[in-house]
Amino acid sequence: MKLEARHLTKSYTEHTVLDVADVAFGNYGIEGLIGPNGAGKSTLLGCLTRRIPPTTGEIVLTTEDERTDLLPLKSHEVTRLGLIKTNQRIQGFDSLNIRDQLRMAATPPEAEGWRNSWKPAEPDEETEAEIDRLFERFPFEDPDGPANSGGEKKLVDILRCLMTNPTLLLMDEPTAGLPHEITDAVMALVRERVEAGAFRAVVIEHDLDLIWNNCDYVHFLSEGSILFDGTPEEVKANRVVAEKYMGV
Ligand SMILES: Nc1ncnc2c1ncn2[C@@H]1O[C@H](COP(=O)(O)OP(=O)(O)O)[C@@H](O)[C@H]1O
Ligand SMILES: [Mg+2]
Repeated sequence: MKLEARHLTKSYTEHTVLDVADVAFGNYGIEGLIGPNGAGKSTLLGCLTRRIPPTTGEIVLTTEDERTDLLPLKSHEVTRLGLIKTNQRIQGFDSLNIRDQLRMAATPPEAEGWRNSWKPAEPDEETEAEIDRLFERFPFEDPDGPANSGGEKKLVDILRCLMTNPTLLLMDEPTAGLPHEITDAVMALVRERVEAGAFRAVVIEHDLDLIWNNCDYVHFLSEGSILFDGTPEEVKANRVVAEKYMGV
């Protein structure tokens, strides 16, 4: 699966925060998206997943036998195509316990407005086994209660995205608010699944060690535009990235 955007811009009352001439995700196992605070990283992924309406541009998802224009689609329709995003900030879902949130992700409701009407489906053995495996790897204080801390909510959000069987998983700052060892465990799981061919992933992160250790290719965004893309080695050695981001 390849996700491509061209001439993608986003303006808020004449202030342009995103202006990307051309970008493609999905060509590598795990790609990094880095850049200073306010560069437009979250806005870019928000536009690509149709959560944020772009001002101009073209967004196309290409699979083996199909080419889909994403602009006319709603965010839940994009989700159904396997394009899934974790969130930088977490809100909502407090009324469901952790296990049910993961069950719900595995059996997506058909229509919008489902948040109020969703009831846990009849337990499906395979889903339950998968959820138990995740709980073994990521122990929660009470998996049958609601997510309590910000960290638990963040982790549930990531696991929920994994349960949807993504084709392209977009992660917005997976380390923010999570203990180091949990982030490492999350990235190890993502890496395993990527290597098994289950999906490909894109990670926004300020923790550059995470980027260098996990990414096969990196895009550098600054002031709304992609200024450089390359392998981690190429990005590390790039003078523009060093000047604008790494404080060299
Ligand atoms: N809803 C909004 N209204 C106005 N400005 C916004 C809005 N959302 C984001 N911005 C601005 O867009 C720019 C890019 O934000 P963002 O995509 O969150 O950056 P990043 O994720 O790289 O830190 C920032 O200057 C931010 O203040
Ligand atoms: Mg952001």
